Amino acid sequence: MQARGPLMIEHRLIERMLLVIKNVLEKIIAKHEVDPVFVDMAIDFIQVYADRTHHGKEEDILFRKLKGKPLVTEDQRVMNELIEDHVFGRQTTKALIAANNNYRKGDDSALADIVDRLQTLIDFYPKHILKEDNVFFQASRAYFTDEEDQAMLSEFGEFDRRMIHEKYKSVVEGFEKIK
Ligand SMILES: [Fe+2]
Ligand SMILES: [Fe+2]
Repeated sequence: MQARGPLMIEHRLIERMLLVIKNVLEKIIAKHEVDPVFVDMAIDFIQVYADRTHHGKEEDILFRKLKGKPLVTEDQRVMNELIEDHVFGRQTTKALIAANNNYRKGDDSALADIVDRLQTLIDFYPKHILKEDNVFFQASRAYFTDEEDQAMLSEFGEFDRRMIHEKYKSVVEGFEKIK
């Protein structure tokens, strides 16, 4: 498998989650209510899987290695755009967390914010995935030898291996902070 293989496989799971969110969002809009626990779980998926695990491999490994390569202007432009997309995704998720917290505290007006942020995520993210799958991953492959690509694939595996430990360490630390 080429290094981009696992990234593209992860895109498929992210797309499936986006479809789940889309379907739940229709019900939220129809019923004018939301289950904050569903939003918590969507946030957990986005933060731990899509952002930390998936964007983590893109930014900390693929993009970092590309910074040492002589990228042509167009590839550099697309990479900058992808990094900005990741930042935008994080900002949207933060706003979603705040809205969900407010809704939980009884602020009904936060429902519109939750709807808005979820809609933003399901609208913007598929475009980001398309840019990577159809444009950037192919273009970036040309900067690596076969050996470099396979070394990157191993690094991806090592990165993933750490994630489950990081996730549950943070769960325990979260509980420990509650006095
Ligand atoms: Fe990305
Ligand atoms: Fe991606």
